[in-house]
Amino acid sequence: MRLLTTATILSLFLSSSSAQTTGKNPKRGLVSTPNPDFARDDPKWTNNSSPLSWYHNFDRIPLPAYDKFPQSEFEYVPTMWGMYSDKGDDTYFLGNITQLSKSRKIFHVLTFNLPDLLFEHGGSQMEPKVAAKVWIKNILPLREEHGVKVALPTVSDPRNGWLDPFLGNCTALNKGKECEYDFVSMHSFGKFEHLKENIGKWESKFPGKPIWVTEVGYNDQDLFTTQDFYNKSIEYMENSTIVERYAWFGAFRSELSNVGPNMAMLDKVGDFTQIGAWYMGQNMTVKTIDKVNSANADVCTLENPCGGSKKSAGVKVMDEQRIWVAAGATLFGMLLLA
Ligand SMILES: *[C@@H]1O[C@H](CO)[C@@H](O)[C@H](O)[C@H]1NC(C)=O
Ligand SMILES: *[C@@H]1O[C@H](CO)[C@@H](O)[C@H](O)[C@H]1NC(C)=O
Ligand SMILES: *[C@@H]1O[C@H](CO)[C@@H](O)[C@H](O)[C@H]1NC(C)=O
Ligand SMILES: *[C@@H]1O[C@H](CO)[C@@H](O)[C@H](O)[C@H]1NC(C)=O
Ligand SMILES: *[C@@H]1O[C@H](CO)[C@@H](O)[C@H](O)[C@H]1NC(C)=O
Ligand SMILES: *[C@@H]1O[C@H](CO)[C@@H](O)[C@H](O)[C@H]1NC(C)=O
Repeated sequence: MRLLTTATILSLFLSSSSAQTTGKNPKRGLVSTPNPDFARDDPKWTNNSSPLSWYHNFDRIPLPAYDKFPQSEFEYVPTMWGMYSDKGDDTYFLGNITQLSKSRKIFHVLTFNLPDLLFEHGGSQMEPKVAAKVWIKNILPLREEHGVKVALPTVSDPRNGWLDPFLGNCTALNKGKECEYDFVSMHSFGKFEHLKENIGKWESKFPGKPIWVTEVGYNDQDLFTTQDFYNKSIEYMENSTIVERYAWFGAFRSELSNVGPNMAMLDKVGDFTQIGAWYMGQNMTVKTIDKVNSANADVCTLENPCGGSKKSAGVKVMDEQRIWVAAGATLFGMLLLA
């Protein structure tokens, strides 16, 4: 499937949310980055009119503020961020999720947050070989015995030589049976074309697998550019049949953001920014976009897979890393330090 038709002019009408103020949007979720100083901000994402249907928080425990919501209302998606013991031969994650499953049905889990990047760059720094072992012990049973849908590890690039050995080792350890997964997860920071290209990369590498864009934004831009990106990217992901879910980064106050103040969904006193209000389904308008894409040639698709040399991978990785110094740190609750 081509991401976009070759027609240069396309018109489409769609609301940037399928949800009206009373409904949930099945795609739209929250990257929860709670800050203990502003705990009063947490309920802002879940009040009666919230369109957000799911959240993740880099962790294995629901945020206490959201514990009261049943999965059907606000689905908690736990993350196995990395290894929880030195050798990675424990079953802590499996144990934790099995325990959690007594109080709420777990439908999905995310796995390994940027295992291809170093800790100092916000990654979970795992050897493919060790990661495969951890996966077999913790993730496979969740999928096979508990019916949980599992994501492939969230790498910075699906073609950078991490996922292939991971899957190879997993198959070897799994007695020759391929390690299966249900969806893929990715982050994208950069301009709109970059997002489309990224989605295309995952789509061509893992055809048919639903994509979750678990962090998305265009960091460090002026307000107009950020809002323009917001408008385009949200419409694009809403429209996409391959993007199953997405989460805007992020749900923090502008003064505390280290992806630039304009990506924040809360202002410095904790009120919604314009983007925050849009994301929360306020001021929804039906929009028309006529010139959808002028950079088709640069978009990776099934028919036009990227060779990896179109753009300097180094630049991209550096970009990701810079962001992930920030985002990776959320695990330790440090993301939003001023
Ligand atoms: C929306 O999706 C349809 C079918 O998948 C496609 O033809 C169209 O170009 C898409 N539009 C945008 C803006 O992505
Ligand atoms: C939900 O949040 C919006 C935006 O702050 C607010 O206008 C609305 O009153 C809130 N609703 C409830 C039930 O708290
Ligand atoms: C949950 O994980 C922690 C390690 O992070 C571990 O100490 C604990 O035993 C686990 N709980 C269960 C029920 O396995
Ligand atoms: C297993 O992973 C290691 C790197 O950790 C890699 O060198 C090796 O080729 C992988 N094995 C398979 C079968 O893919
Ligand atoms: C984004 O969309 C809103 C309507 O939802 C519109 O008011 C605003 O002007 C748009 N901004 C840009 C930069 O396209
Ligand atoms: C819509 O947004 C404008 C600011 O752009 C604000 O003044 C107005 O109160 C909002 N309306 C609703 C219903 O949220």
